[in-house]
Amino acid sequence: MRKNIVAGNWKMNTTVSEGVKLATEVNEALNGVDAKCEVIICVPFTHLTSCKAVCGEKLHLGAENCADHTKGAYTGEVSASMVASTGADYVILGHSERRAYYGETVEMLAEKTKLALENNLKVIFCIGEVLEEREAGKQNEVVKAQLESVFSLSAEDFGKIVLAYEPVWAIGTGKTATDEQAEEIHAYIRSLIAEKYGDQVADDTTILYGGSCKPSNAKGLFAKPNVDGGLIGGASLDAESFMGIVTAF
Ligand code: 13P
Repeated sequence: MRKNIVAGNWKMNTTVSEGVKLATEVNEALNGVDAKCEVIICVPFTHLTSCKAVCGEKLHLGAENCADHTKGAYTGEVSASMVASTGADYVILGHSERRAYYGETVEMLAEKTKLALENNLKVIFCIGEVLEEREAGKQNEVVKAQLESVFSLSAEDFGKIVLAYEPVWAIGTGKTATDEQAEEIHAYIRSLIAEKYGDQVADDTTILYGGSCKPSNAKGLFAKPNVDGGLIGGASLDAESFMGIVTAF
């Protein structure tokens, strides 16, 4: 059976001390509830080691990106093995902000995914269309093309991928996809996985929704059969609102 997951994506927010405070608050709150999902915080590279120190057994840690090379003369880059060496066990790849602002392509993301998996990191792989594509009814086509980065993996490796559908028009805009819009495209994504890897793998794949997810709309989204949790931006920067989403399951 697939796992339900709520993952925070802090993006480029918080200093190290603010981040440690937030991680500590989330960890403490999590210890006080019987969460029905796995909980992950994905934090800036600079925060990984100190956040790891305050994550208890219930709180998993991830990075927000990793390099598409193993090591060497790539000034400013952080490799998958460096991320793994902090004790993190997840990495977000293919976020729309990285695709849009840093030119990440399907091929680069295939390489990053391969390197992350070789270093025993689990990958939260993001896909999603922009507004013009949604308005032109092209969202299925777009997510199908983006999935090419992970569809060359073996079924075993694909089993280590969590997908996150994040419509770009819903990110940080306060405009959430309706429960029905999310369910419709999540079901389509699952059908593509079934076509490629078979029904069992499709059934076992966790597909998260991301885009203005908050405590007030999480319950409705998570109640949909193909929505297995959320990837949370803004609302993950406050322990109380993040926990409001965690406890929506
Ligand atoms: P918001 O929750 O701030 O809309 O961000 C979603 C997101 O991009 C998570 O990766």
